[in-house]
Amino acid sequence: MRSRVFRLLLENRDRHLSGEKISEMLGISRAAVWKHIAAIKEDGAIIESVSNKGYLLLSLPDKLKKEYVSPFVEETYQDKKIFWTETIDSTNKYAKQIAAEEPGEFVVFAEAQDNGRGRLGRVWESPKGNIYASFLLRKDMMPERAAGITLAAAMAVIDAVESTLCIRPSIKWPNDIILEGKKLCGILTEMSAEIDKIEYLVIGPGINVNARVGYSEDLEDKVISLRDVLGMKIDRLELAGALVNAMFKRCADYAEHGLKNMIEDYQKRSCILGKEVFIIKNGQQRAGIVTGFTENGELKFESEGETLYIATGEVSVRGLNGYI
Ligand code: BTN
Repeated sequence: MRSRVFRLLLENRDRHLSGEKISEMLGISRAAVWKHIAAIKEDGAIIESVSNKGYLLLSLPDKLKKEYVSPFVEETYQDKKIFWTETIDSTNKYAKQIAAEEPGEFVVFAEAQDNGRGRLGRVWESPKGNIYASFLLRKDMMPERAAGITLAAAMAVIDAVESTLCIRPSIKWPNDIILEGKKLCGILTEMSAEIDKIEYLVIGPGINVNARVGYSEDLEDKVISLRDVLGMKIDRLELAGALVNAMFKRCADYAEHGLKNMIEDYQKRSCILGKEVFIIKNGQQRAGIVTGFTENGELKFESEGETLYIATGEVSVRGLNGYI
């Protein structure tokens, strides 16, 4: 019922809605309406209340709960469950626990993580104010194609940021989203699989919306938040809804067609295509030029007269300051 009260307020942001009208429309008592309004305010929304006129939603709640995110989710993805928790060790870990009982695809949001994880065993700082999400996907694909889905996920983050905030970040293969030369978002992709069958994939983006964080050992000057760029606190709900839409869409497309439908867009967004980079893998580094990406998400790399296809690794651009 809370979600229906919220939806009504959201759909009527240009006028006051009386408690009586809400109670009539939803078939609940005025006291119940008042209780829901109080709870939505408790979650950070600013709701003006004027006697004889009613309630007006002035700003959105600041929790990524299902009832607040789902009005921003397209009809096609309304069947995907949204789980929410205030603080958790890691949303990726939590998603795997839920997967044991939940047969479908779903997403988990947390306001903060106290043991957020980055790639290669690193710690991901996770204070309140950002988006920490994990998408549990069940795709009928061979395990060797799994790594490439991170590229589709990166495109999804870009779609969401661009459609809601008109900002155009770029991608540093495989999993970093870059803005002004600094890291805005990292994605941790994990899977549970047998030799020839994926049971599920967990795709965990951590987006710096209002707090500038990254790996605990990273210096502040390597990371950036959307708030830094826009100069004001950002409402996360619309962005979270757009992320849900884009993630399910891009990943379904990848599972069916590989990167075929998005490779052109991906190349345009890449900040390393055509650049001289070091590939750093297992502590070894090799210099070369990035010449493209395959439909399964590998990096095509020309080094010392050889063409190499790299499935996953650490990339840094040679000779540039900043993060990339
Ligand atoms: C990286 O760049 O190394 C990946 C960072 C991924 C962080 C996100 S936050 C949500 C999800 N839960 C985690 O524990 N990690 C990912």
